[in-house]
Amino acid sequence: MSAIMPTYGRLPVSFASGDGAYLFDQKGLQYIDALSGIAVTNIGHSHPNVTRAVQEQAETLIHTSNLYGIAQQERLAAELTQLTGMENVFFCNSGAEANETAIKVARRHGRNKGIETPQIIVLEGAFHGRTMGALSATGNAAIQESFKPLLPGFIRIARNDIDALELLAKNRDDIVAIHVEPIQGESGIWPLSPSFLTRARELCDAKDWLLSFDEVQSGNGRCGELYVFQRLGITPDILATAKGLGNGLPIGACMTRDRARELLIAGDHGTTYGGNPICCAAASAVINTLSSEQLWNRADKIRDAIFEGLDAELSDPALVRDRRGIGLMIGIEPTVATTNLVKMALDRRVLVNVAGGNTIRLLPPLVMNLDDARMVGATIADILNALKDDKGQA
Ligand SMILES: Cc1ncc(COP(=O)(O)O)c(C=O)c1O
Repeated sequence: MSAIMPTYGRLPVSFASGDGAYLFDQKGLQYIDALSGIAVTNIGHSHPNVTRAVQEQAETLIHTSNLYGIAQQERLAAELTQLTGMENVFFCNSGAEANETAIKVARRHGRNKGIETPQIIVLEGAFHGRTMGALSATGNAAIQESFKPLLPGFIRIARNDIDALELLAKNRDDIVAIHVEPIQGESGIWPLSPSFLTRARELCDAKDWLLSFDEVQSGNGRCGELYVFQRLGITPDILATAKGLGNGLPIGACMTRDRARELLIAGDHGTTYGGNPICCAAASAVINTLSSEQLWNRADKIRDAIFEGLDAELSDPALVRDRRGIGLMIGIEPTVATTNLVKMALDRRVLVNVAGGNTIRLLPPLVMNLDDARMVGATIADILNALKDDKGQA
């Protein structure tokens, strides 16, 4: 019996090494990784720049404390703010923690204005993490139910519901922020509509609310810019990220600007490991690799190649009901049930995932070559063709 707490449903494979878009199992068999560890290894496995940065830092200094200055943290914050236009950064260890920080920034904004029970608008279908604050902001009853009572202070509306936003703006005086993923990931790859995001930005300006984006999954080059807000042209006041920032090293960041910039002050927030030298050195290597090579420009090319492979092999175009997403956050919604699809792809040595019930989720790395991208699309088509022959209807 395993001594690991059984919180994960694991697939029957374990990887021994990785290189770019490939993983190798214990027997040395090669897999194409179209998932990047759920949007983490955006610049590929074992990227030499990251490996070198970690090695050098490990040989020099692993930990001091946030009681002291941390040069690697200062450098990374300068790089991130320069590339995003955000103005300062709090470093933590994960996506959930980046969102916890965003929630505290928003609440502090309200408290500073004398609002005793500040409310944050969040969306149905949102996923913000598993800690109690982030879980309460999440819009998924199935993963919340067993852990009630949830944290109060969140008002949930439907995705893209502008009327609901307007109504809240008109009737409530205790709202402090809107916190959303610009592209919902876990619930099945749903980009928010530009009109919803535009109106959210306008209302935040008009009502002195903060616009807060969770770019834990969409960020760090994945969607065709360093952060997808830069592609959408709608700038948040708070930006939470993690995952691809460290390319596998555990680091999260909550960036703020303008009205959100000076809200958290000494004593308000902290973490022992957040912004430690090794993770910051790794993240600097990631950010510099992404930006110096403009790697995010490969996102749409890889996406196109995946769809090329898919379309070429599908026996019937009606097998795909919808395809969604931006850049390399790709959702493919088939008309057949995907119950066994992840395992069938694994058997074909391609790593994919299903999110939001029945949507095939692809999150390939920016370094995947176009032949492999076509192969990923073709493999999915091949599986959908086989499922159709088995008559599994979604
Ligand atoms: C959008 C989003 N926010 C937050 C999280 C939580 O991140 P972590 O697992 O690093 O806590 C995730 C993880 O899937 C995510 O996709």
